[in-house]
Amino acid sequence: MNITVVGLGYVGLVNSVILASYFHNVIGLDFDKTKVATLKQGTATIQEPNLQSLMNDASPRLRFTTNYKDAIRPNKIIYIAVDTPEGRDGKPNMTNFNLVLEEIAKNAIQDSYIVIRSTVPVGTNKYAKKYLEENSDYKFDVISHPEFLSQGSAVDDMLNPSRLILGVSTKAAEDLMLQIYSNYQKRRIPILITTPETAELIKYAANNYLAMKISYINEMARLCEIVGADIEEVSVGIGLDPRIGTQYLKAGVGYGGTCFPKDTRALSWLGSSHEVPLELVQATIKINNSQPDILIKKINSHFKSLSNLNIAVLGVAFKGGSEDVRNSIATYVVKHLLDKNARVRVYDSLAIENFQKEMQRHSRIDYSTSILETLDNADAVIILTDAKELKELDKSCFIDNMKKPIIFDGRNLYRPQNMEGTTYYSIGRQTVK
Ligand SMILES: NC(=O)c1ccc[n+]([C@@H]2O[C@H](COP(=O)([O-])OP(=O)(O)OC[C@H]3O[C@@H](n4cnc5c(N)ncnc54)[C@H](O)[C@@H]3O)[C@@H](O)[C@H]2O)c1
Repeated sequence: MNITVVGLGYVGLVNSVILASYFHNVIGLDFDKTKVATLKQGTATIQEPNLQSLMNDASPRLRFTTNYKDAIRPNKIIYIAVDTPEGRDGKPNMTNFNLVLEEIAKNAIQDSYIVIRSTVPVGTNKYAKKYLEENSDYKFDVISHPEFLSQGSAVDDMLNPSRLILGVSTKAAEDLMLQIYSNYQKRRIPILITTPETAELIKYAANNYLAMKISYINEMARLCEIVGADIEEVSVGIGLDPRIGTQYLKAGVGYGGTCFPKDTRALSWLGSSHEVPLELVQATIKINNSQPDILIKKINSHFKSLSNLNIAVLGVAFKGGSEDVRNSIATYVVKHLLDKNARVRVYDSLAIENFQKEMQRHSRIDYSTSILETLDNADAVIILTDAKELKELDKSCFIDNMKKPIIFDGRNLYRPQNMEGTTYYSIGRQTVK
């Protein structure tokens, strides 16, 4: 089949490559000229395991452009995967999405199927159909098909999804989507066919549930510290119950990134706008907003002053295994350290360049190229992601390289029993001194 994908970020590029690897012919469009120039040279613009090799293999069926006419005219199946960032009061900012609708209406030359992969408020499907039909001469069948991939495992998530959600209004749209995804059907991957409104809400409900699990375990961690329990064992103990499950029960400094913070606030806004206050969602947001301060409080109470201390920060992406620093907890923590006049040295094997851009207005940050260089002569180290190389560190690294091995672990990467000889603070567990 011939498919156009609009928006070539994490979702759009991975969708383009995988659709092409399923033998569809794909035209990918983005208005970012630099991004498209890089893609045209055959280079993936994001780092995701296996993406580049799949892209190389699928290249005969993949074409990239910045020109809407070239992308919309040839194909009657158009995926939309542009960003829908947070706007005022949590309401999604639909400017980019609406721009795509404008361009489709302007450039379409036939009845078309529009497949919405972006995360959008309930009602967007209906709105898109109405807008497109009022502003062009053609009929549009709009499908709500939310994406659930996670950065860091995006390719595998899309190749082996837990389920596909298809919000359709016609049998023709259902048949088309099942044809596009015939190989998922063959592999018996669950496919839920539902209404557009339900599909739109499923995406927010799923992300909010996962965020709520994180805030729940973080709230339990606060209690563990007071009553002397160990949150890691509490987490294992409850997660072994198959009704609860083990995932998203890791205590830490909270979630960041471009999905959970914006999607929780969007759902809270959606509830309020319909006069249905969503109290669990609001509590999830509130707990997460204050979670980094739990670690910061420990740092501030350990040191009388941070002024001129050398603080090492390991892991600045929004999570381990990602290069993305948008809404990362590290941005918040590092700004606090700088406000307190500390000298900060940061390291992240994937995200350092993006972090440098994000923090370019701030001096007193050194960007390091290795863990050992970051730890060298540091007064303390703060760990903010669960990157594999950080998990694998031996305590001797801290003991041998730092001025004193004082560790603030915001991701509970090590067992307190193994940290003797260091001062080891973590989340929801007793401090080792
Ligand atoms: N990143 C994730 O893990 C993830 C997972 C599931 C769903 N989502 C949702 O998918 C959507 C896309 O997310 P993302 O992370 O891929 O975003 P992104 O910011 O990485 O990429 C968006 C891309 O769209 C392009 N773009 C924006 N407006 C455009 C326009 N009018 N015309 C052409 N190109 C345009 C941008 O240049 C950018 O390359 C969002 O709604 C997001 O909430 C994201």
